[in-house]
Amino acid sequence: MDEVASSGVFGARRTSFGAYAAAYDAVRPDWPAGTVAWMLGSPTAATVYRVVDLGAGTGLGTRAIATMGHEVIAVEPSAGMRDALTTSLGALPERIAARVSILAGGAEDIPVESGSIDAVTAFQAWHWFDEAAAAAECARVLRPGGWLSMGWHHRSEDVVWLRELAEIVQRRQNQPDDQEAPPVWPEFEPSETELFTHRMRQSVENLVLHASTWSYVAIRPERDRILDEVRALGRRVADRDGMVDIPMTTRCYRLRRR
Ligand SMILES: C[S@@+](CC[C@H](N)C(=O)[O-])C[C@H]1O[C@@H](n2cnc3c(N)ncnc32)[C@H](O)[C@@H]1O
Repeated sequence: MDEVASSGVFGARRTSFGAYAAAYDAVRPDWPAGTVAWMLGSPTAATVYRVVDLGAGTGLGTRAIATMGHEVIAVEPSAGMRDALTTSLGALPERIAARVSILAGGAEDIPVESGSIDAVTAFQAWHWFDEAAAAAECARVLRPGGWLSMGWHHRSEDVVWLRELAEIVQRRQNQPDDQEAPPVWPEFEPSETELFTHRMRQSVENLVLHASTWSYVAIRPERDRILDEVRALGRRVADRDGMVDIPMTTRCYRLRRR
């Protein structure tokens, strides 16, 4: 882990997730099958891949991959997140849950054999890694022709109330939260970029819970005040059913191992 990765605010944010893993799993956006299929390199329906999901968290991406028929090794350093992932498998049909194995570990030291993996994914997670070390590890574990991909959901900035929300939570404070430039590494062919649209509909209280899982909110001393403001905004913009719509763009990169 480099100096930036281990420094105060970044380190606090990077390790903040496990404390509210159950909430995270309940209210964070999922990963639609079309997005996941692109991230896996668009395999045919009959193909069964062996996939490593880095920073798997509570398994929002892991479960999508397993549901599509692939074997997934979920690699996650946080015990709280791994526990939530284990619990979440109980809600899946047994034949799907059986495709998932969960390992303690980090992207910089992936606990699998060299050349044994068809695809590596990082859903909303790559920005937490030591990028150079993680890219080298991904190159090590992937077979030639295998895929490395990373994706990030972004709330739409075209929607007025979402711009207000970004102001309240000060999303840009203490970045990074994504990777804006396509990655370039010598072991991989040039990256491809794709944008997907996604949408989630939440109650106001789930919006508040959702905001509480953003690491830049979770670590702030004034967290409760921020969440009160989120609640007030949500109540102001909710529809007659008390729900808010959150349109998102999901930006993804994929790179093929040479
Ligand atoms: C924002 S969450 C994303 C979780 C999940 N992939 C999803 O889409 O919901 C980021 C995850 O990355 C994990 N993480 C942080 N540093 C990591 C590292 N160096 N290697 C692997 N995972 C890491 C965190 O513990 C957290 O579970």
